Amino acid sequence: MSLNSDKRVDRVVWDGGLSVGILMADQDHQRIMDLINRVLDGMLGGQSEVGLSGLLDDLIGFAREHFRREEELMRTHDYPELQSHREMHRFLEKKVSGYKTAFLAGEAEVGLAAELMKDWIVLHIQGVDKRYTRYLNARGVV
Ligand SMILES: [Fe+2]
Ligand SMILES: [Fe+2]
Repeated sequence: MSLNSDKRVDRVVWDGGLSVGILMADQDHQRIMDLINRVLDGMLGGQSEVGLSGLLDDLIGFAREHFRREEELMRTHDYPELQSHREMHRFLEKKVSGYKTAFLAGEAEVGLAAELMKDWIVLHIQGVDKRYTRYLNARGVV
């Protein structure tokens, strides 16, 4: 994880240290970070409200697809922590959707979004997703 601090709000940058050892998940995570950066850039660059709302929808939609893919993989392999992991996904979905609602109400500010999204990526990938690596790798998922 490295952060670029040449802007007021740091962009999120994927690097190998964030790998969870499964190609599908790594590719999804990179795409999620790309979508987050677009939201941040859009906010800093004065994107229109409609444009930003669309970028947030892209992020929310793709995150949902990713969560379903991960859950399906964990379910297929009887991963013992599926239930708590799934609850964490639902919590994150609510958090990001709540952010979009706040944005539409004119109550969201970019610093908070950056904070929230970085926490999501760093804490969830590092703290929760990485817990399945050894279990799934041992079952041939790479
Ligand atoms: Fe993930
Ligand atoms: Fe996850």
